[in-house]
Amino acid sequence: MAAVDVVVMAAGKGTRMKSAVPKVLHRLGGRALLDHVVAAAAGLAPRRLVVVTGHGAEQVGGAARGFASALGLACETVLQQPQLGTGHAVQQALPLLPDDGICLVLNGDVPLIETATLQALVQACAGERLALLTCDMADPTGYGRILRETDGAVRGIVEQKDASEDQRRITEVYTGFMAAPNRLMRSWLSRLTNHNAQGEYYLTDVVGLAVGDGVAARALVIQDQPQVDGVNSPVQLATLERVYQLRRAQALMEQGVRLADPARFDVRGELVCGADVEIDVNCVFHGRVEIGEGARIGANCVIAHARIGAGAVIHPFTHIDGEKFAETAGVQVGAHALVGPFARLRPGAVLGDEVHIGNFVEVKNSTLGQGAKANHLAYLGDATVGERVNYGAGSITANYDGANKHRTVIEADVHVGSNCVLVAPVTLGAGTTVGGGSTITKDTPPGSLAVARGKQVHIPNWQRPVKKKP
Ligand code: UD1
Ligand code: MG
Repeated sequence: MAAVDVVVMAAGKGTRMKSAVPKVLHRLGGRALLDHVVAAAAGLAPRRLVVVTGHGAEQVGGAARGFASALGLACETVLQQPQLGTGHAVQQALPLLPDDGICLVLNGDVPLIETATLQALVQACAGERLALLTCDMADPTGYGRILRETDGAVRGIVEQKDASEDQRRITEVYTGFMAAPNRLMRSWLSRLTNHNAQGEYYLTDVVGLAVGDGVAARALVIQDQPQVDGVNSPVQLATLERVYQLRRAQALMEQGVRLADPARFDVRGELVCGADVEIDVNCVFHGRVEIGEGARIGANCVIAHARIGAGAVIHPFTHIDGEKFAETAGVQVGAHALVGPFARLRPGAVLGDEVHIGNFVEVKNSTLGQGAKANHLAYLGDATVGERVNYGAGSITANYDGANKHRTVIEADVHVGSNCVLVAPVTLGAGTTVGGGSTITKDTPPGSLAVARGKQVHIPNWQRPVKKKP
């Protein structure tokens, strides 16, 4: 099979998005539209990947190279300035494509296209024909219509604006995806004219030229329309987002994940679940998130870049943000830990097994040993917390002196009372008990009681002030 050279058209402005962001960089499932298209193309292991840029060329080109390199793919960009039509767009890429390959044309704004579909299109081209991806649409308005001979052979494509009344009644449309040998594409594109209703060089005119040259045009009809739906407006973007999310949800449910409602579920990255995972409504997952066997995620949780251990329970309204997924950063929640409701785990929060983090507790860059508990209204930042520590309500680590961050070490079995301030750097020796309301500035000896607060005094027969008469 000949090498595949992919051309992605991404020069258009996307006027209907009414946005300063170039259209192909708008996000679906947390990733740019163009990123989805590049990923689908990457599945073919193409020889070349050429992105045609125009509007926002620098931004789009830079992004495209980033998406490709993340997938181990080289990406070249060509500037189309001005934009004289889709045929003109592909023309800009052709000088980069050697004669012996197959040119596969993709749209940067059609994000749900799948590798298998592209593969089938390349196969339909078979290194010698022109292959078009077409779709039968209930409402074909705006699309190029497929013209066929009475025997069914494809004869050409007519654009909406150039079509007759009769032609507009045709429901089979061109989806914007085609494949053809580079050598033939070069010859057809060199013969394009812009004598049409829009004064543009139409890529779709290559069909008539191919047929005229005696080259067969083969239509591959796709049933799954969302794969070829483009994004032109915020409404279309949101519509495709829901299609995408539903597909992700269905794939997870097929693996056994129990989603309370697949319509109220959002994955904006990579979600990997063990067996018997349950996810309640309105959860949003960003980046890479791993959820261990039997873990449960309550309603309305936002979880990013985290690994949740087996059997852990994340109660509703918990916000976990690991910033990036790694052994050293990210957030880790141990097996059978309980977190939330209303807890906040920030980058570097590493909770051991059976740790309890309760409501309005914030943990950042801190390690908690097995069975440690901070159940109410507390802050642990830059702390190392030993096993079985009990960290009282309202207590905080004062980890920042206004210039530098310092660590707090709380050794195993320490009991920190309510409303304590642990001024870092400081170490609480194993088994220390800290009296409520203490401000601890010095290391405490293991096994001691540490109290650091004003002593309680009693003044007998205290007369309260009396309100003066006006
Ligand atoms: C095109 C097809 C139409 C098809 C439809 C499917 C042509 C002439 N028509 O129409 O048959 O049904 O797509 O969606 O090809 N672009 C450039 N440079 C340009 C013009 C466009 O890079 O000069 C890019 C756009 O950014 C976009 C893609 O090409 O990603 C398609 O362009 P668009 O203007 O949307 O083409 P349509 O008129 O929709
Ligand atoms: Mg379009």
